[in-house]
Amino acid sequence: MRTIDWVGDAVEIIDQTALPDNTIVRRLSTVDEVIEAIRSLAVRGAPAIGVAGALGVALAARLHADASEDLADAVARLRSARPTAVNLARGVDRAAARIPDGRDAVLAEATALMAEEEAASAAMARAGADLLGELCGDRPRLLTHCNTGALATVVGGTALGVVTELHRRGALGAVVASETRPLLQGARLTAWELGRAGVDFRVAVDGAGPFLMARGLIDAVIVGADRICANGDTINKIGTYAHALGARRAGLPFIVVAPESTVDVATATGAEVEIEDRGSAEVVGFATARTTPPGTEAVNPAFDVTPADLVTAIVTDQRVIRLDRGERI
Ligand code: MRU
Repeated sequence: MRTIDWVGDAVEIIDQTALPDNTIVRRLSTVDEVIEAIRSLAVRGAPAIGVAGALGVALAARLHADASEDLADAVARLRSARPTAVNLARGVDRAAARIPDGRDAVLAEATALMAEEEAASAAMARAGADLLGELCGDRPRLLTHCNTGALATVVGGTALGVVTELHRRGALGAVVASETRPLLQGARLTAWELGRAGVDFRVAVDGAGPFLMARGLIDAVIVGADRICANGDTINKIGTYAHALGARRAGLPFIVVAPESTVDVATATGAEVEIEDRGSAEVVGFATARTTPPGTEAVNPAFDVTPADLVTAIVTDQRVIRLDRGERI
């Protein structure tokens, strides 16, 4: 399954807002359509939006003349479609740097990024599965948060790629996917991917994670990242920090899996990162039903910061950084 691809002269995505009930491939032929897909989370996950941004620049380079104001404006709007995952700005910048070389060069750069993310997923899956074997022994019972599978990357996944690799090796105990309010990436998307892969899993409400850990029902927590700062602070989907605190309290490994394209050494700590605020509407109801009194306002940070000292190890496609042993990025 490919989450995103360049097909003919447009970008094609699996529309993640329609899952798990409908698998719809959407064709994005304009820059505005790409931006809307990123903002609405039709395409989502740090590596996937990095690729979407780069392919969006390739689209822009086909639609607008070189060095035109329209092209510069399209690049700027793609770059700022979402603020938190470093991959988006990086993917856009990388493709945009090739604009002087012509539109085919821009597309080649974007498709090279897509191929690199695909290879990175495979490398992380192997390294993460090996690490969990070392830390937890055979058949660990894992808790994961949000969606970090093929849907969040191109194929494969980050943390969820490790889970499916352990399953492929016959070395996985079980998995709890935390629901991930408010947009339910865990309940809708991770559950969908795990079911298709034939993995034994349960869904739990987000608040259950630390309690399941305290009860001895989880051996390790494994999550992805949207940005990893120079000091190891990890920005990931809201709710991750609570799981990290639960893991520390229960004495469990807390593992972050993300490609090098998510490591941002230019940002010193998590305090410097803009956390996307997605407004009240996603929180004051559940699916289409209002659950709060009319007029209720919500606070809705889409991500949180897990301090580096709560992270046992960071697994990238190129290295395993054991923060628990004092190793540094
Ligand atoms: O808002 P989203 O769904 O785009 O959030 C991104 C994520 O999927 C998660 O934070 C994820 O754990 C990191 S991306 C592999």
